[in-house]
Amino acid sequence: MRHLDDIAAPGTIERELLNELDLDHLPRHVAIIMDGNGRWAKARNLPRVEGHRAGMRAVRTTVEAAAQVGIEVLTLYAFSTENWKRPPAEVRTLMTLLKEYVRRELDTFVRNNLRLRPIGRLEQLDRSVQKALREAVAATADCTGPIVQVALNYSGRQELTDLLKAAVEAAAAGQLDAGLIDEAWVDSHLLTRGLPEPDLMIRTSGEQRISNFLLWQLAYAEIYFTPVQWPDFDKAELLRSLLEFQRRERRFGGLSPTPAGVRVPDGGGSGDA
Ligand code: FPP
Repeated sequence: MRHLDDIAAPGTIERELLNELDLDHLPRHVAIIMDGNGRWAKARNLPRVEGHRAGMRAVRTTVEAAAQVGIEVLTLYAFSTENWKRPPAEVRTLMTLLKEYVRRELDTFVRNNLRLRPIGRLEQLDRSVQKALREAVAATADCTGPIVQVALNYSGRQELTDLLKAAVEAAAAGQLDAGLIDEAWVDSHLLTRGLPEPDLMIRTSGEQRISNFLLWQLAYAEIYFTPVQWPDFDKAELLRSLLEFQRRERRFGGLSPTPAGVRVPDGGGSGDA
């Protein structure tokens, strides 16, 4: 049972937003493209790295807020395969911040029963980053609460290409029959296997693109674009996005509206969403 006072103190803007929210119809899985760190820094005449540092603080706030509200899975797009094109110093900073976050927040994760699940081509990351991730994954493996999935060196197209390649190889080795492949099979071979698909995808900074993020999994997600730069994203912004989610009607390709937050089994079919 969630107590409102544990989520937001009375008299605050967060509490006002929370009072409007139906806690029984929340998205189970929220995915976020955290964008705008650079512009946030530029607007303050700060180096870009300060934007990323502030972005890390927003990660901490958002993870805590999502868990308090009762989101089961939070997926954060922290580093895409395209991000290697950035100057090496910026890439190094992002990796250092990631290690810092993982190490510093480990106690909080364990105390709050949060499980860390990194996805992406982790083997291409710096060894020290891999080590920090491995340790955090091991330390939170028995946590049964919300899952914090961090997409790192991740690409949606790569994920689907890898899956296709593995399927063809398995078929060639006589271990897979094409007749067995259906949407459920694909789901169970994605990096996100075992998790509900995202109900809500948030992108900050006013950009309105999916940018190679969870291409299969976002098929029926509600998409919420906010002009807020990622470092300014906080509990109030998360609550606003959840309220917007609840205002949407989800049809999953059918005709009758499904109130947001109500899941339709078996992927919901095809057609206009
Ligand atoms: C986009 O801003 C943000 C990123 C590429 C990285 C996100 C990383 C963090 C929030 C920090 C650490 C992450 C974790 C999980 C602890 P941008 O640089 O593209 O901004 P811009 O579009 O304004 O230049």
